[in-house]
Amino acid sequence: MSIVDDMNWRYATKEFDSSKKLSKEQLDGVLESLRLSTSSFGLQTWKFLVIENDSIRKELLEHSWNQKQVVEASHVLVLCIPTDFGADHIQRFIESTAQVRGETLESLDGYKKMMEGFVSRKDETALNIWMTNQVYISLGHLLTACAAMKIDACPMEGFISKEYDRILGLEEKNLKSVLVCPIGFRSENDKYATAPKVRFPREELFIHI
Ligand SMILES: Cc1cc2nc3c(=O)[nH]c(=O)nc-3n(C[C@H](O)[C@H](O)[C@H](O)COP(=O)(O)O)c2cc1C
Repeated sequence: MSIVDDMNWRYATKEFDSSKKLSKEQLDGVLESLRLSTSSFGLQTWKFLVIENDSIRKELLEHSWNQKQVVEASHVLVLCIPTDFGADHIQRFIESTAQVRGETLESLDGYKKMMEGFVSRKDETALNIWMTNQVYISLGHLLTACAAMKIDACPMEGFISKEYDRILGLEEKNLKSVLVCPIGFRSENDKYATAPKVRFPREELFIHI
């Protein structure tokens, strides 16, 4: 199957078959794809919660615009940004780069200073927007990876971040929820599965120069 077939196969799943669960291998594949997402400077300013617990999911439902994917999917992923991002994170990333690539910390000093400079020019709001943008990129990876693995997913902005943060104890973990993505397998009854895709035509989208 081509990637275009995968893109046509996937859709924002409204009804999941709650009797179908991802195998450990499937979940591992999804999470590894998320881990491999690209990010600005490679800094990976994100964390992902993987929720299976039914009672927590029931609690989240009313703060998810009652979108039942949250309780019916196999797993619910909550994509978060850190609230304590700073020099420590950059240092940890530099150390990790040095270790993985067998480079010295000194050789990475210019890169480190460049990142520190970039970050220091942003106020808190700008920094949060920038980190949030990174999370949206990871969502793109997640959706594409799921499609390639024939796993259904529903990207969701329709939830109340503050309530998620409270229920999931994210403040104590120095995190803030940005996006939600239930994953699992579509129900036979989901009429959206066969609905034609609504997309503007190519000639409106692409400007060839
Ligand atoms: C960032 C983002 C947030 C979304 N939030 C929701 C949501 O809360 N609930 C929902 O049912 N669909 C949500 N969607 C799904 C979109 O409505 C859907 O992707 C779009 O209509 C295109 O359809 P398709 O993905 O099925 O091809 C969201 C999509 C994105 C990318």
